[in-house]
Amino acid sequence: MTRTILVTGGAGFIGSNFVRMLLEDRPGDRVINLDALTYAGNLENLKGIESNPNYTFVHGDITRDEDVARAFEAGGESGVSHVVHFAAESHVDRSIQSGLPFVNSNVIGTQVLLDQARGRSVEGFVHVSTDEVYGSLGKTGFFTEETPLSPNSPYSASKAGSDMLVRAAHHTHGFPATITRCSNNYGPYQFPEKLIPLMIANAREDKALPVYGDGMQIRDWLYVRDHCEAILAVMEKGQPGEVYNIGGHNEYPNIEIVRSILRHLDKPESLIEYVTDRPGHDRRYAIDAKKIDEQLGWTPRYTFEQALPMTIQWYLDNDEWLQSVRSGAYRDYYAAQYGG
Ligand code: NAD
Ligand code: DAU
Repeated sequence: MTRTILVTGGAGFIGSNFVRMLLEDRPGDRVINLDALTYAGNLENLKGIESNPNYTFVHGDITRDEDVARAFEAGGESGVSHVVHFAAESHVDRSIQSGLPFVNSNVIGTQVLLDQARGRSVEGFVHVSTDEVYGSLGKTGFFTEETPLSPNSPYSASKAGSDMLVRAAHHTHGFPATITRCSNNYGPYQFPEKLIPLMIANAREDKALPVYGDGMQIRDWLYVRDHCEAILAVMEKGQPGEVYNIGGHNEYPNIEIVRSILRHLDKPESLIEYVTDRPGHDRRYAIDAKKIDEQLGWTPRYTFEQALPMTIQWYLDNDEWLQSVRSGAYRDYYAAQYGG
């Protein structure tokens, strides 16, 4: 049976990789992409698939009831069978500057979406969350699905809030929702405000590489393709009401990543500039991903040693994309494509 999958935030980094993967790997599915095209939404991430008959783009905001209704109606008579919810404000540093947009999109937007989805009897709803809701780890230990939520930034607090709303929709209404909590992603089409693409872009231009604090904060890096495959596994095989942690088993301190990027690009370490630390900076994240492995048969396919060079090469091969984002020219692409 044809499935119709409503993806929110499909013009962002992970969402666009997911939309591309779905159209390629599940050619029988239809995909509706609802995206507000904030600064992080870029239709150039989806170049080449606009004309795919299984793909529909809906320009709209998840905080607006009428926009969400329009996206569901794009499913036609058979309606939307699944929702995969990526749309969010996603950058910790921006949330430190101003938390309100995060509460709007991440908390209110999620509730609007849940209410609409509940009224239309969807078969499944995957809420894409983050390991940051668990807070920060010491030198040892891992986040499991039972780790208490202890978010430290306005971003992670807003994501924890959205997780609670999704949980409540399942508990109260029996709504068929699952929650995924993933570690740091990297790969093609990531907005160059995040560590890896920012460092690649700056190093290429011989600009300073700003490392926060002592650079010894640890993240568990996951290649975006692996994350997309995990989300698909949860959409197709996950149990309603369950939380699934997704991680890459690739823990590295930031400074090692920065050095590794410089080595690959044959650039000097003198480009590294230690700058004032991020306020409230979480020290370490690490995911225990046993549950999704044992219950859904998902494990990451890529190691950091394989996928970091692939990622660096992607940014080198797609310099036009990078320059368009860095200069802001990508904002014009929507008007050219859709006349808006
Ligand atoms: P991103 O910032 O690259 O993309 C977010 C997308 O959502 C953009 O296309 C933006 O236009 C859209 N959007 C934002 N607010 C919206 C609104 N109100 N209505 C409609 N669309 C809106 O984010 P990303 O890095 O791709 O992250 C996607 C999801 O995955 C987020 O929910 C994030 O919390 C989660 N996540 C990200 C990572 C990571 O490492 N990037 C890791 C774990 C979880
Ligand atoms: O863990 C999952 C989270 O990973 C997601 O939920 C977030 O949406 C995503 O943005 C990411 O959050 P981080 O804050 O970990 O990612 P970021 O790329 O901003 O930073 C990664 C690490 O690098 C972090 O320790 C801060 C540091 N950093 C970041 C930037 C942008 C620097 O040292 N210098 C920088 O310029």
